[in-house]
Amino acid sequence: MVGTQWGDEGKGKFTDLLAKEMSMVVRYQGGHNAGHTLVVDGETFALQLVPSGALYDHIVPVIGNGVVVDPFVLLAEIDMLSRRGIDCSRLRVSGNAHLILPYHQQLDALHERHLGKSKLGTTKRGIGPAYADKAMRLGVRVQDLLDEMIFREKLRATLSHHNKVLTKIFNRLPVDPDALADKVLSECLEPLAPHIADTADLIHDALEAGQHVLLEGAQATFLDLDHGTYPFVTSSNPTAGGACTGAGVGPRHIDRVIGIAKAYVTRVGAGPFPTELFDADGDRLVDIGREFGTNTGRRRRPGWFDAVMLRHAVRLNSLTELAITKLDVLDTFDTVKVCVAYEIDGVRTEKLPYHQSDVHRAVPIYEELPGWRADLTAATEPRHLPSEAHAYLELIEQQVGVPVSMVSTGPGRSQFLNLTS
Ligand code: IMP
Repeated sequence: MVGTQWGDEGKGKFTDLLAKEMSMVVRYQGGHNAGHTLVVDGETFALQLVPSGALYDHIVPVIGNGVVVDPFVLLAEIDMLSRRGIDCSRLRVSGNAHLILPYHQQLDALHERHLGKSKLGTTKRGIGPAYADKAMRLGVRVQDLLDEMIFREKLRATLSHHNKVLTKIFNRLPVDPDALADKVLSECLEPLAPHIADTADLIHDALEAGQHVLLEGAQATFLDLDHGTYPFVTSSNPTAGGACTGAGVGPRHIDRVIGIAKAYVTRVGAGPFPTELFDADGDRLVDIGREFGTNTGRRRRPGWFDAVMLRHAVRLNSLTELAITKLDVLDTFDTVKVCVAYEIDGVRTEKLPYHQSDVHRAVPIYEELPGWRADLTAATEPRHLPSEAHAYLELIEQQVGVPVSMVSTGPGRSQFLNLTS
């Protein structure tokens, strides 16, 4: 399951809906920059790191090797869930996942400040610096916690590098590796140890036993480090290929790739956004859709649905289907718009330009449809949708070339339509 836009598509909702068929739900990239909100039995849960599957007794929630894990955040989340009656003892964390430690967050904030007006608008959770350490072979892994000598040695090595950056470039105090090791080991080792596992092995055991595994993406296609609007991206691969490396499964095991798309588009942080709205329609999307980050509280930038991007997302992820969220947010609009092409320097293009300067200059060409002006929040069957809403979904299907299999019309579990039955 992958996000097809710039994140916040409402992926958590579909994990919830698919959960009953699954025995394992695996996060494969990102870290606590994500924010998944789930409403289960009227209770709202906001999760950052623990896979949404944790809320179901029959599911083994897994944090795969591709995730970057802040152990303090993970333990706080486990503690929050336990206090709310959710048993997290089944949770497994890959020993190969890399740790986010406090100096990563400090470096993330310092880099953003250093960039000034060119800042990326990161979540300041230390995601970029932790993945940079992984690529530089300076990272500290979850399994290192299990060997005190190795853990201390690796922290000393990585901090001998980062302390030079902190003191000489950013004029900050150095971090004492031994004091940090003492803190992490004393607070995190005991509670985390029972969860640490070879998660690729667990996933393959489940697959060999004929069970269903959901690979749950965080962030989204256009925040992908390789395929997104670089540098305004996250530091991992949310696209479907990232699910293979981030979980340890080959592509032959993946038989369904569900792309989640909002009925309009939002983006947090900087970067190009061809269908962005700066008018009253944009404000209405933000107000009605409550488009403020679950994680950072930032106002999301709103825009109309962009089929040019979606067509590209279908290809990049080999999507088999689309699930559309928040259709109800459009309930009161007289007219709804879908961007079907861009105009760049007077030339029409139906493809996302590979040159990003062109994306910055792209002017959306819209197809406009009459709105349905009806409350969809109680719709549970296709026949409950007005013909205008069907027309909107059909236009999306026709534009992007894959079927819309599911639609959600509100945060609750029952606010959902299966269009395939
Ligand atoms: P980072 O992932 O914190 O490094 O932030 C890089 C970019 O990705 C910024 O534009 C963030 O706003 C964006 N981003 C990261 N995580 C999410 C998410 O879960 N939803 C939406 N945007 C995100």
